[in-house]
Amino acid sequence: MAKQLEGPILPFLRLDDAVALPKFRQVQDQLRMAILRGHLRAGTRLPASRILAEELGLSRQTLVRVLENLKVEGYLEARQGAGTFVSAALPHQPSKTGWSEKLNNALDMPLPRLSRIGQLSRQVSADIGQFEHKPFLPNRPAIDRFPFALWRKCWNAVTRGGKVAAMGYGDLSGELVLRQRIAEYLALHRHDPCDPEQIVITPGGHAAFTLAAMALADPGDGILFEDPGPVTTSNLFRTLGLRLCLAGVDADGMDVAGATSRYPDARLAFVMPSRHHPLGVTLSLPRRLALLEWARANDAWIIEDDYDSEFRYDGAPLPSIRSIDGHDRVIYAGSFSKALYPGIRIGYLVLPPQLIGVFRNLSGLINRSVPVETQLVLADFIGGGHFASHLRRMRGLYAERREAFMEAGRTTLAGLARIDCSESGLNALAWLEKASEDHAVRRSVLDVGLQCYPLSDYTIATPRPGALILGYAGVPADRMKPYLLRLAEAIARA
Ligand SMILES: Cc1ncc(COP(=O)(O)O)c(C=O)c1O
Repeated sequence: MAKQLEGPILPFLRLDDAVALPKFRQVQDQLRMAILRGHLRAGTRLPASRILAEELGLSRQTLVRVLENLKVEGYLEARQGAGTFVSAALPHQPSKTGWSEKLNNALDMPLPRLSRIGQLSRQVSADIGQFEHKPFLPNRPAIDRFPFALWRKCWNAVTRGGKVAAMGYGDLSGELVLRQRIAEYLALHRHDPCDPEQIVITPGGHAAFTLAAMALADPGDGILFEDPGPVTTSNLFRTLGLRLCLAGVDADGMDVAGATSRYPDARLAFVMPSRHHPLGVTLSLPRRLALLEWARANDAWIIEDDYDSEFRYDGAPLPSIRSIDGHDRVIYAGSFSKALYPGIRIGYLVLPPQLIGVFRNLSGLINRSVPVETQLVLADFIGGGHFASHLRRMRGLYAERREAFMEAGRTTLAGLARIDCSESGLNALAWLEKASEDHAVRRSVLDVGLQCYPLSDYTIATPRPGALILGYAGVPADRMKPYLLRLAEAIARA
């Protein structure tokens, strides 16, 4: 017999006006989380959308939309004439086999008192679904072409003879030799020289953004953030208690004039000038200069996420904002997640001189240090010229895969979706021709063994037409057409 939900659903659902997330998204994320955590068990019947809507003070349509979306994602199922239930087979449930009774019981316990950050973290998801390595998984470099033999050679060189230095805590800013190699790389390939002392190594790009937000903004402070924008990053800033000050995005990138006039008091701006994720546009030079001027005039800081600057297939990349900053307002963030592989978990910051001390110390307090062996191996890999040649080969390979994707996509997706492949990065957009819900289309795409992300997951306040984000960089050119044919079938069926 179906389990009936006891008591009000409200204990799981807390709408927060301070969170810059539409109410339907807050309800949807929190319901999903309650299901994943086992607070709502498989087979539980949900109250009718009308009752939920009344309890939450939202419109019934809003609740219908939430429940429909969760059905499409596989968390809920409708039973004819009986109502809406938590699905018996959940899409992302952690395996509980072997869990002790105590752990299973913990799922039914009331939540302990949490800090503000703990509470805010419950309202968003950190899950990026990167575990399903299916064709067209976005943001995925060509791991099939990673130079494992060279990497192993560098690893052997570092560990041979048991280097004691690699086994200590390491420098709080990161190993000097790696900071030197990164500084050389930036000077040569990004035409942006810096002193290795300005660099702090972090466990990835997101850890770098966290340090910057923690060091420079207090809870409640505003951060300019592009809408649409990367979900993991907006969720991170929200969890740190920052106020998202949304900026529109057009063909020239962030609408700097609009955002800075609406939110002149923001403390930070987070921007992806080389390649906006997920729209793929580049921030124009006049807007870069306008952002710098705003930061100078308002004592604000720019976090420059130089995302995907390594992969540009047409023309030279624009100089980084940092390289044209005459007033030391830019905190530059880089990561090896796409240039090498996400699991390496190494990123870095290049800091204005006046911030070096505080960032070094804060990083040491939080991270102690980043795995020293991996840092030394990476330094050896860059120093041996292997990083530059790997990037050169990957640029060629991705350009070839991009061509194959566009060529096959134009015919296979004709009438179903319009392909939009910017001249940089690892992903493309497929704008759906029919006004279909991109969530529903994604479900159909997953059903045929492919991957993609719906653009609507990235939009915060301003809805856009439905589109799928598709990663082409991880798909061999000769497999592109068969996979695109399968994709076309899935879109047509949705
Ligand atoms: C916009 C953006 N910037 C940077 C990164 C790199 O972050 P990390 O090094 O933590 O993987 C990502 C990863 O997906 C991203 O989406």
